[in-house]
Amino acid sequence: MMLLRISLSLVFICIHVWGTTAQTNEDGVALKALIEGWKNLPKSWTGEDPCGSRWEGITCNNYSRIITITLASMGLTGQLTEDLTSLSELQTLDLSYNKGLTGPLPSNIGDLSKLTSLILVGCGFSGRIPDSVGSLNKLISLSLNSNSFIGQVPASIGNLKHLYWLDLSDNQLTGSIPVSDGSKPGLDLLVNTKHFHFGMNQLSGEIPPSLFSSGMKLIHVLFDNNKLTGRLPSTLGLVQTLTAVRFDRNFLSGALPSNLNNLTKVTELVLSNNRLTGPVPDLTGMDMLVSVDLSNNNFEATDVPLWFSTIQTLKTVNMERTGLVGQLPVTFFDFPQLQTAILKNNQLNGTLEIDSGYSRYLQLIDLQNNSISNVKVESGYNYTLRLADNPFCHNGLVALSSCNNNGQESGSDASYKTPVFCVVPECTSGQMSSSTCKCAYPYTGIMIVRAPSISALGNEKYYTALQTTLIGTFVNLSLPVEAVSVNNVSMNAFGYLSMHLAFFPANQDHFNRTAISMIGFVLSNQTYQPPPEFKPYVFEAEGYTHFEGKHNTSHTGAIIGAIIGISILVLLLVCAGGYAYHQKKRVVKAKQQANPFVSWDSQGTSGDVPQLKGARFFTFNEVQKCTNNFSEANHVGSGGYGKVYRGVLGDGMIVAIKRSQQGSMQGSREFKNEIELLSRIHHKNLVKLIGFCFDRGEQMLVYEFIPNGTLMDSLLGKSGIQLDWIRRMKVALGSARGLQYLHQLADPPIIHRDIKSNNILLDECLNAKVADFGLSRLFGDTDKGYVTTQVKGTMGYLDPEYFMTNQLTEKSDIFSFGVVLLEILTARKPIQLGKFIVKQIKETVDTTKDLYNLGEMMDPMLLSSSTMLVGFEKFVDLTLKCVEEFGADRPSTGEVVKELENIMKLAGMNPDAESTTTSQTYDGSSRQSFGHPYSDDSLVQYNEGIPFKKSTSN
Ligand SMILES: *[C@@H]1O[C@H](CO)[C@@H](O)[C@H](O)[C@H]1NC(C)=O
Repeated sequence: MMLLRISLSLVFICIHVWGTTAQTNEDGVALKALIEGWKNLPKSWTGEDPCGSRWEGITCNNYSRIITITLASMGLTGQLTEDLTSLSELQTLDLSYNKGLTGPLPSNIGDLSKLTSLILVGCGFSGRIPDSVGSLNKLISLSLNSNSFIGQVPASIGNLKHLYWLDLSDNQLTGSIPVSDGSKPGLDLLVNTKHFHFGMNQLSGEIPPSLFSSGMKLIHVLFDNNKLTGRLPSTLGLVQTLTAVRFDRNFLSGALPSNLNNLTKVTELVLSNNRLTGPVPDLTGMDMLVSVDLSNNNFEATDVPLWFSTIQTLKTVNMERTGLVGQLPVTFFDFPQLQTAILKNNQLNGTLEIDSGYSRYLQLIDLQNNSISNVKVESGYNYTLRLADNPFCHNGLVALSSCNNNGQESGSDASYKTPVFCVVPECTSGQMSSSTCKCAYPYTGIMIVRAPSISALGNEKYYTALQTTLIGTFVNLSLPVEAVSVNNVSMNAFGYLSMHLAFFPANQDHFNRTAISMIGFVLSNQTYQPPPEFKPYVFEAEGYTHFEGKHNTSHTGAIIGAIIGISILVLLLVCAGGYAYHQKKRVVKAKQQANPFVSWDSQGTSGDVPQLKGARFFTFNEVQKCTNNFSEANHVGSGGYGKVYRGVLGDGMIVAIKRSQQGSMQGSREFKNEIELLSRIHHKNLVKLIGFCFDRGEQMLVYEFIPNGTLMDSLLGKSGIQLDWIRRMKVALGSARGLQYLHQLADPPIIHRDIKSNNILLDECLNAKVADFGLSRLFGDTDKGYVTTQVKGTMGYLDPEYFMTNQLTEKSDIFSFGVVLLEILTARKPIQLGKFIVKQIKETVDTTKDLYNLGEMMDPMLLSSSTMLVGFEKFVDLTLKCVEEFGADRPSTGEVVKELENIMKLAGMNPDAESTTTSQTYDGSSRQSFGHPYSDDSLVQYNEGIPFKKSTSN
């Protein structure tokens, strides 16, 4: 009691000192009423004011009004009462993955007039969806999927003219699809909506033709797994923006509209398991189709349609039980990307002939239960061929394994498991080992892909891309996820791809509540953009209960005692800290008097002020302020010299600040010399130095911030930017020009020493900018005569000659640059799984073969894209010269630049033209956008209602 009183009086003293007073908060009262009776609330939800005392999952505006509530996966139980609607400034509500949240939505939910995102994925809500959702006229995202809602789809949703994402799938909705009729609204009015996700309900009746019109912007129309009847209306063919169409697993009948092939952007078309009749549709012209499934319908008997072989992008064809008759054309398996062809349960007859032209991606041909009497197959194939129940297998002459009826279902042949390259430790109960072999409590769940275009489920390439893009997203949002594992991949009965994902925490063995709610939001809100094969997806999280890590049960009294003790300690420290800070300031001031460089400031006139051209001096306080006190959220990278922070200057300019760590700093005179040197360097392909900080014993460099990240991130698919061949050539040329400037025009010349794809940044127009030049001199190991430790840190790029002789020349940079060119070609890291890319390329290259025999090693994206690889041979020749063993055999930077310019000219490009394409034109380039996917669309503008810090605010 005594202790308590002391601590209380300390509180009052401190409050008095700081002149702040706690106020009762109007939203606090409403929120308290709302959560009355809820269980498992965050421990930080104490006191009366959710805004003042930093309640987890809550953010407020400057007027102490709640604007976001994000509480995904908190294990909450309770109901949503009408008290919710008192939170009238609320913009984002995400309560996803709380199965214990049950009961109906409040009928007056439409009063939340500011709401832009209503995200209640995977909860236990039930009852009818209130009509008043149609009054939420700012709504952009409505995700009520995977609950137990019943009744009709409210027609009032048609009033939501800003709606972008509509997901009501996986409920028990009934009735027909509402369309407008003059007196009432309907879904046909949603001309700005991109996503209609209605799969896995019990919608019935015919699909109203007026649902679709040419003015719509829909990209995904998913009505699979319902009870729809009648014909597929021909109006669907008017919606030319569509990329994924699913009406499978309904009761659709009649012939398909003949204009279906107007949908030239569609990549996934799934109409299987209906009662469709008439001819198999002619899909000629659907030139982007990747996956088509027309299986299990009642189409007229027909020869194998010819349009298959004209669609170059097709990977998966499922024509099971579609009435196919006659002989398969010999060219059928020749389309270049084909992976899976399921043609079972038809009446294909004659000879199955597969010639040497078959797709090299081929994984599975399933021809079971047809009438094939003879087989002529090119030897040496290693895909799976299924031929059971064909006359061929019964003629007694063959004992082919393809004829064994092993009852395999398509797809069940390979379930993916994330490979592990380390010694797996034994973890305590509840913990799992990550792919980096640390024990931790992961956040887990099932990712369901609703229109998957993957046919080779065991192909590692897909999952690597999934994992790297996930990690990339979390890193960009400063969320503490270290590793992602993917396991138990399978195709489920609804035609969805299902995968078990586990997200492992960085730094600790568990996630805290804030991290979980944010990660949950990234997935529930579709902030994460997967590679196209995995779109569209839904994530269904499993409960997370390890917010405090390992549970040590101890006596409650002891805990209370400890809390009181700790609070007193904290208070004392805070109060004492304030005093100490003042004292320290004095000490620093005194120290500065003795520092010869104290007069480095913007107006300084002392003779020791560096002779700077354009570079500014920053005080420690300025830098501290613009990086939000070097907060974790602003920490964007690390290197041998220390950490890199993002900061925003007073004028709004975004900068990158490199802060050298203790031990890698050098004397003030050397620092001054280097700053002078760097400040004189200006080239459009070099990252610009804005200024520096030499204050309070810190050495920092302030650079312009380059928005599109590193070349490595783009190549590895982490940034969402896709670089085609021409753009890769431009990036190579730009970086070579930057390097040429350092080698030949800077005075004295600068050897970069750390050229790598991580030091080549891409600006908003995807121009290359070389970063970190001169840093190894500035922040490196200052031991005289010793090669810098920093260069050693980047294995894979290091010139072998330099390594042996310690003699550094420009040719060392050329070697490293050659490795970057190899990365551009292969999108692989220089050392991957213990293999050195330079060695691999030298062993593989064969100039007598197609693509120099490098097809297997190249980035598949280059091979699959439609642009020609103009100048490919010249580029490889140049690359191989750059990575010659001896420096004397490598070209100079000038020669490299010239050759790259030649390649550009070959491709009909002006090598001197400024790039004007912005990254905005690339799909999924929403690296910096924290609100919603596809945010290249101006429709989606999340300004305030997001729980993440925007990159431009501090
Ligand atoms: C294959 O089927 C077609 C169509 O039913 C028929 O016209 C043809 O004669 C058959 N060919 C053989 C070799 O059985």
